[in-house]
Order: sequence, then C-alpha cells, then structure tokens
Amino acid sequence: MTGKTVGFAMCGSFCTFSKAMEQMKILKALGYNILPIMSFNAYSTDTRFGKSSDIINSVEKITENQIIHTICGAEPIGPKEMCDVLLIAPCTGNTLGKLSSGITDTPVTMAAKSHLRINRPVVLSIATNDGLGASAQNIGKLMNTKNIFFVPFSQDDPVKKPNSLVADFQMIPEALEKALKKTQLQPVIK
Ligand SMILES: Cc1cc2nc3c(=O)[nH]c(=O)nc-3n(C[C@H](O)[C@H](O)[C@H](O)COP(=O)(O)O)c2cc1C
Repeated sequence: MTGKTVGFAMCGSFCTFSKAMEQMKILKALGYNILPIMSFNAYSTDTRFGKSSDIINSVEKITENQIIHTICGAEPIGPKEMCDVLLIAPCTGNTLGKLSSGITDTPVTMAAKSHLRINRPVVLSIATNDGLGASAQNIGKLMNTKNIFFVPFSQDDPVKKPNSLVADFQMIPEALEKALKKTQLQPVIK
C-alpha cells in the first residue's frame, strides 16, 4: 500500500477517458489516495464518448473524493502540499502547449503550476493527434523541464494518423513510482 496522494488531472481527450479511469481504479487498489481534477472542458463537455455527468459520477465514485474543477479549487494544491505527485491523464495537445508556455487558465494548468512550485513531480500521459506536429516542440520543451516526467508513449496509428502520439496508460503506475523518485521511466518512446 503506497499511502501516497496522487492528483489525477483529466483533460479533454475524451476517447481516452475509459483508459484513464481503468488506471484510476488500479491506483486506488494500489493504495493511493486520489485527488481528482478536471479541466473546464473535461468537466463540462458531453461527447460521443460519454456524458460529462456520468463521467463525473464515476470518477467521484472510484476516488471517493470530489473533483477539483475550478482554478480557485486547484490553487492550494502546492501551498497546502495536497499531492505527492500530479498525474495529467489524459494530457491534451492544448494543455501541453499551455504547460510549455507557462499559461495557467484551467484547473489542470493551475494544479501543475501550484504543485511544481513546491518542487514535486508532474507526470504527463499524453494523447494528441498532433504529437509529432504542432505539439512536438512542446513535448520536447517539457521533456527538458525539471520535475516533468512522461508516461512512455508511441505512435498509435502511423499510417492513418502519422502525427498522433498516445501514452501507454497501463504504464501509469510504474511511471508514477519512478517519478516519485524523480526518475523518468525508460524507454520513454515505445
Ligand atoms: C470528442 C473529442 C475528442 C477529443 N480528443 C482529443 C485528444 O485525444 N487529444 C487532444 O489533444 N485533444 C482532443 N480534443 C480537443 C480538446 O478537447 C480541446 O483541445 C480542448 O480545448 C482541450 O482543453 P483542455 O486541455 O483544457 O482539457 C477532443 C475534442 C473532442 C470534442
């Protein structure tokens, strides 16, 4: 049993929510306390992958905690030392761009800024169709940023979506374990 607290932040890659929630259950079973966080888009958008109210209910049931879904709610995460590690799963191209540019205008980017302020690790589980396109420079910059780690990722469909990169969500527990020791799980490119 880890007894550690993981901030589990979800962004609007709706097609990967089921994979993320599977890992949420596994982390809970491993003994993590889970503090759920959602971006404005993740919290409020109904899509063909599910209704936001159903997703919110499932996340709160799995984690046994209320979701932080405002900037104000995420602000104390660092100052109050609320998490040992912050996981962003899924992390969109949009949020990658904001993190790499120091933009803080969502609950997830606020959580990251607040948590990094106290020198603690942030782990990104990316899912973006432009990982080898517009987001490539942001991924590169974040790989070279202190306290930022990645869940190992690969091209998910090199033929039909040649720029798309998706993390192996099943490697989240292992990546968190390493990040808690300030180490990148390798190989980071699968
Ligand atoms: C159905 C649907 C699926 C999406 N899937 C992805 C995705 O897998 N990766 C991604 O980077 N953006 C995806 N987006 C776009 C993001 O939701 C959008 O960029 C949004 O601004 C992200 O905001 P956030 O990063 O604050 O959650 C998707 C949007 C919709 C409506």
